[in-house]
Amino acid sequence: MYSALPAGILQRPIALTGFMGVGKSSVGRLLAAHLGLELFDVDSMIEERTGMSVAELFASRGEPQFRTLERETVAEVVANGRSVIALGGGAFVDPSTRELLIDKALVVHLHLPWSQMREVLDGLGSDRPLLQGKTSEEVHDLYLQRLRAYRKAHLRVTVPRSSPEDGTGRVLMALERLRHAVEAPSAGGGPMS
Ligand code: S3P
Repeated sequence: MYSALPAGILQRPIALTGFMGVGKSSVGRLLAAHLGLELFDVDSMIEERTGMSVAELFASRGEPQFRTLERETVAEVVANGRSVIALGGGAFVDPSTRELLIDKALVVHLHLPWSQMREVLDGLGSDRPLLQGKTSEEVHDLYLQRLRAYRKAHLRVTVPRSSPEDGTGRVLMALERLRHAVEAPSAGGGPMS
């Protein structure tokens, strides 16, 4: 089930990726508390540092500038040792940020099937520039496009949107399975769920 898991993967920071609204920040908070690790929420860090919301940053400086800030922030937090990192939904889609994360973090894709995702979309638009003015079909296209990148995560965990506690429990179980696989003599590796 696993192929070529990098050595020391369990000692790396745990980075949560996945589509907008899937619950990366809330699962991140609970996971960090459970594991006794610090949480770095990349979007919140960028907002604090620039004094602007993500939506304001997109509007005033544009997406490429936001991606640069995001890449710099991710590079800084992965260098901080073991922690939980809640990424924005596009961070792992950016090729150089993805490369950095694959190299330096244990990347967990929090997956919400489209059937559940579409139900939460209405509540997401206002502070997410990439969703503004988009039809449900357009968001679905973006969702499918994003899945291609998320598949490159080390782990995939399907989470229910309704319960971050349940989602966190599932991530913890997946981490435990990974630990067994890494410690087993025949450990292989690769994306799994
Ligand atoms: C983005 C996701 C957002 C935020 C920005 C761009 C994306 O974070 O970083 O609006 O490209 O998917 P959330 O995934 O926390 O909504």
